[in-house]
Amino acid sequence: MIKLHDLHFKPFISEEEIEAAVKRMAESIASDLKDEVPVFVGILNGSFMFVSDFVKAYPKPCEVTFIKLASYEGVKSTEDIQRLIGLTQDLTGRTVVILEDIIDSGKTLAEVYRIFKSEKVKDLYIATLFYKPEAYKKDFKLHYIGIEIPDKFIVGYGLDYNGLGRDLSSVYQLKQTQYMTNIVLFGPPGAGKGTQANFLKEKYNLVHISTGDVFRFNIKNETALGMLAKSYMDKGELVPDQVTIDMLNAEVEKNAGANGFIFDGFPRTNAQADALDQLMDSKDSQINAMIALEVDDEVLVKRLLQRGKTSGRPDDADETIIRNRIQEYYNKTAILKDYYSAQNKYFGVDGVGSIEEITERLSQVIDNL
Ligand code: IMP
Ligand code: MG
Repeated sequence: MIKLHDLHFKPFISEEEIEAAVKRMAESIASDLKDEVPVFVGILNGSFMFVSDFVKAYPKPCEVTFIKLASYEGVKSTEDIQRLIGLTQDLTGRTVVILEDIIDSGKTLAEVYRIFKSEKVKDLYIATLFYKPEAYKKDFKLHYIGIEIPDKFIVGYGLDYNGLGRDLSSVYQLKQTQYMTNIVLFGPPGAGKGTQANFLKEKYNLVHISTGDVFRFNIKNETALGMLAKSYMDKGELVPDQVTIDMLNAEVEKNAGANGFIFDGFPRTNAQADALDQLMDSKDSQINAMIALEVDDEVLVKRLLQRGKTSGRPDDADETIIRNRIQEYYNKTAILKDYYSAQNKYFGVDGVGSIEEITERLSQVIDNL
């Protein structure tokens, strides 16, 4: 991943793929042009790297020149295209091949055609390394295409985002979602997870996704996924992970603009952790940390018994039940601790102290991600 100005980009096309495409183009043009000595015309600035590699790969004699005409600001093709600079050579009777780094809407190409209409060239061919078919709005023929790409903004290998990125030797694509902080929050019963999640979501503008709440919401509102989940629960069966993941996906999509998510109550197994990684990956994002609140068993038992006096929750009143719940938490989360430790994403945080002290400890972990 790289950051240029305010935006994040992910690796998209490798040097090797570019090299292979350039070579293919050079060979196919050379074989079509037979004994003709072409004039390759690179369109600056973006094409400088492509043209350089292209002519090195071109197996026969050729001439090279550059012209400049397009200005492309930010991530959208600009309406006004600059005037032509640099065509000093007489191209009368010559076979000209325009070398473009990228063809997007085709506006630049239309200008090229307009300009070359008055030159009495023998033949005019268009070759572009990258081409966005979904964005192309013209009907000029593109004679040679290196790599077709989706209509998403790319940088590298000559292409820039507001001046930066031209120097990169491979191509990066704009990430769908920008940088997010996604946390899996763990803690035994009574560790203060809910309280801390509330503070963290305020402080970092995160969305708290409690799997239990998501289930209850979907079932109560009789969503398709809720009904599906309920059909398993009614039979006394576990809800398949995919159903849960689909519900979480819906939550993540509902909050696409969020700074990140706090996952609470999920994952519980390695398979679920894998599924969550895949979900995040499909959003061009990732889980950044599993943070576990660590509280000594005796303190938990005391806290829960205390809470039981007022909460009315029957499972908070019985010490044996409490101890079993705590034990169950450790049995279940041990594997996940290993899972996230293996990715250097596990952070244990001391959960004993005042609420503010604990929030402060959690913040230190998050601030360092
Ligand atoms: P068109 O005129 O819309 O076809 O766009 C052509 C010009 O826009 C190119 O020469 C580039 O300068 C710029 N451009 C189009 N798409 C991208 C992109 O994804 N990244 C960087 N520049 C782009
Ligand atoms: Mg260009």
